[in-house]
Amino acid sequence: MLSKLCRTVSSINFGTARCLYQPRLLEKYYDIIVRAGCSDSKSGSKSGSKSKPICLKGKNVIFVAGLGDIGLDTSKELLTRELKNLVILDVRENTEGLCALKEICPETKVTFIKYDVTVPLDESKKVLKKIFDKLKTVDILINGAGILDDHKIEATIAVNYTGLVNTTTAIMEFWDKRCGGPGGIICNIGSVTGFNAIYQVPVYSGSKAAVVNFTSSLAKLAGITGVTAYSVNPGITRTTLVQKFNSWLDVEPDVAELLLEHPTQSTKECAENFVKAIEKNKNGGLWFLDQGTLEDIKWKKYWDSCI
Ligand SMILES: NC(=O)c1ccc[n+]([C@@H]2O[C@H](COP(=O)([O-])OP(=O)(O)OC[C@H]3O[C@@H](n4cnc5c(N)ncnc54)[C@H](O)[C@@H]3O)[C@@H](O)[C@H]2O)c1
Repeated sequence: MLSKLCRTVSSINFGTARCLYQPRLLEKYYDIIVRAGCSDSKSGSKSGSKSKPICLKGKNVIFVAGLGDIGLDTSKELLTRELKNLVILDVRENTEGLCALKEICPETKVTFIKYDVTVPLDESKKVLKKIFDKLKTVDILINGAGILDDHKIEATIAVNYTGLVNTTTAIMEFWDKRCGGPGGIICNIGSVTGFNAIYQVPVYSGSKAAVVNFTSSLAKLAGITGVTAYSVNPGITRTTLVQKFNSWLDVEPDVAELLLEHPTQSTKECAENFVKAIEKNKNGGLWFLDQGTLEDIKWKKYWDSCI
């Protein structure tokens, strides 16, 4: 079995020698690699870390929270790429912002649907079905809904994490190649706080760490589902979200003021790099967008499930 595995994968990093002594694990690992049609994550693979730049012209994009502060500037930037359709799902009805978007590119149809990510999964599926019935295909789903208020524990987890997981789960019905779907691309907005917490807002930071972790799993499942994924993780960006917010149990009443004493970026800088990251289209990308820069960060592996 070991030689069979080595023929499939040129350079194997098992993470632990445990696999080598457990034939069942070795067999399972081989099956996963073959099923996914990929090699190990180090060498770059179909489900792994390979970049396949995408041209956005003519694409259909769904943008959850596309009318927020980062969302609106990112939507504007996306429209300079001549999409076919931009469908914005947001709980916020920003009529002025929407009108501005509609004027940017005559080739792109911009549609708004009011959507609260905290609705049950079946409701999310219904909203997506309407979109798929109309557009037939969707190329990219951007999940960007977020709130920052560590007094609101359940709401933070519901919007920032459960809502994102549910919207992702809902679109799998239309994309999953095991159901005959064509695959697709998920772009999740995480945060630098998902890498290293703002410890005074542990609930928000934890919800963003969950987004980063969930997205990394989606990327690894791409060989099975046909759906690739990456996260876009902004550093502190000057939006209403960070102007004033509550810390957990009021551990630091001045958390917002203290945070904004340090370097930040504008929504435009963030948006430009956001769309660059989308165009790079790297499955498993962990994009770090801080102070006008864009970097694909490396996540250190401390443990491997070996399954
Ligand atoms: N501003 C920053 O420094 C920063 C840094 C890292 C990550 N982020 C993330 O970027 C995203 C956008 O944040 P922003 O700074 O532009 O703030 P924002 O408040 O302007 O945007 C938040 C967006 O989420 C939407 N939203 C909130 N609750 C929702 C719900 N229940 N259903 C659907 N949509 C909902 C809002 O309508 C809005 O469009 C968020 O996910 C945020 O966590 C922001």
